[in-house]
Amino acid sequence: MLKDKCPILQFADLGDERGKLVVIEGARNIPFQIKRVFYIYGSDDTVVRGQHANRESEFVLINVAGESKVRITDGKEEFIVELNRPMMGVYIPRMIWKDMYDFSADSVLLVLASTYYDDSEYIRNFEDYLTECC
Ligand code: TYD
Repeated sequence: MLKDKCPILQFADLGDERGKLVVIEGARNIPFQIKRVFYIYGSDDTVVRGQHANRESEFVLINVAGESKVRITDGKEEFIVELNRPMMGVYIPRMIWKDMYDFSADSVLLVLASTYYDDSEYIRNFEDYLTECC
């Protein structure tokens, strides 16, 4: 099952009366050591981002503010995750196609990655992905 390969991660809330606190530690409460962090904001509900698969990178996606959706497919199955809480994320392993869309105006989508950026490990054409993956 694709959903088993891309689990929803629920992070502990270490908050108290002063506010919320979420901690993510590489290879502890996510499946990989973190080499790269990036975040996407200023998108809206008219754009689709992602639209690629990665031969090497694993990711965790978290909407630390606002909300967005991510459509995840392996070319056979597909499911959609609504990222709408700072305490939840989704793990995306290698060679999984993803599209992020329906960004709220206040969306800040945090992405944790297992690799340094390398454009050559991206597959940006869905037909090429289907050829390579399946
Ligand atoms: P892109 O892969 O289109 O972003 P998305 O995550 O929405 O699919 O990346 C946009 C641009 O930023 C592109 O020119 C590549 C560059 N980029 C980096 O240089 N390093 C990175 O870690 C990432 C994610 C993108």
